[in-house]
Amino acid sequence: MLDLGYRLLKPALFAMDPERAHERVLGVASAFPGLVRGITPDSPPPPGLEVDLAGLKLPGPVGLAAGLDKEAHALRIWEKLGFGFVEIGTITPLPQAGNARPRIHRFPAHQAIVNSMGFPSDGMEAVAQRLEGLKSKGLWPRVPVGVNLGKNKATPAEEAHLDYVKVTRRMHGLADYLTVNVSSPNTPGLRALQKVGPLQRILEAVLAAEQSIPVFVKLAPDMEPEQLHETVNAAIDSGVAGIIATNTTRRRGVPGTEDLPGGLSGAPLFPFALERVTQVVASAAGRVPVVGVGGIMGPEQAKAYLDAGCTALQIYSGLIFKGPGLIRRINQGLIA
Ligand SMILES: Cc1cc2nc3c(=O)[nH]c(=O)nc-3n(C[C@H](O)[C@H](O)[C@H](O)COP(=O)(O)O)c2cc1C
Repeated sequence: MLDLGYRLLKPALFAMDPERAHERVLGVASAFPGLVRGITPDSPPPPGLEVDLAGLKLPGPVGLAAGLDKEAHALRIWEKLGFGFVEIGTITPLPQAGNARPRIHRFPAHQAIVNSMGFPSDGMEAVAQRLEGLKSKGLWPRVPVGVNLGKNKATPAEEAHLDYVKVTRRMHGLADYLTVNVSSPNTPGLRALQKVGPLQRILEAVLAAEQSIPVFVKLAPDMEPEQLHETVNAAIDSGVAGIIATNTTRRRGVPGTEDLPGGLSGAPLFPFALERVTQVVASAAGRVPVVGVGGIMGPEQAKAYLDAGCTALQIYSGLIFKGPGLIRRINQGLIA
């Protein structure tokens, strides 16, 4: 039913500018939450898929990756599709427009996306008020909700930690976990914050500001193995509760993408991300859990990440190309 609906809708959505299509779908979900929830069949993860992620009780291991519902416009829909947790954001302290459009490009033949969004954000105040509204009306999802934190483009690198702390403080009581995002390729200088010194400064500041929920860090796949190892160790030494890997890649390899700015996600990211995630699991050596992200288009890739030692998973591009029934299919595939 869900798959059929998406198959009928997809040609119209794929004929539109990708960001406009995205806004339309989330706009409808946000304006008519009751209606959209009403027509969306409930597909919770089947019993047996529960996992503990750094103390968070997830009904299933498959989560919504950051960037898809940045501002929490459709927060109550995701659990109905079978997601075991949801990550909103990236959220910056102040509202900002992000990079010039068009900034999302789809490559359906390769099931790939290149985006150069640059953290367009309503800013933390607007999102916090939206979350407070859901809490006060008793509409909070039953699955854990994480908030992915970023910095404003105009904030100098030396002051980056202050931005992360601002969002951390504003989100107190409104998130089940936080993710420090130092891995988007579209904010100048952001990925340099993955170096040991700047990273530890940010993580220590965030962990000092928020001690009641787990704090994760999200890493890029484009680090050399040695730097990746150092970064993972620095993050764990600072006290993070888990590592999310990976964000989009600057690598290309899909025809037509070479001259586009930004990061590539989707099917072509999978082998590369899996290799990096396998390294992250080895470097973490059981000290903290790892969440695998990158190119999960079906149960096969989901299993590969779990077999590599991941505790949980996240998906963005797969949902765009395969539709909302994907999560239920993955959950069923994992049970089988
Ligand atoms: C259009 C778009 C926007 C994204 N925005 C964010 C973001 O704001 N913060 C973030 O941490 N990751 C963001 N991501 C990265 C995804 O969360 C994910 O790490 C990446 O796309 C790889 O997973 P996938 O192959 O399943 O898409 C974005 C990805 C896409 C395609």
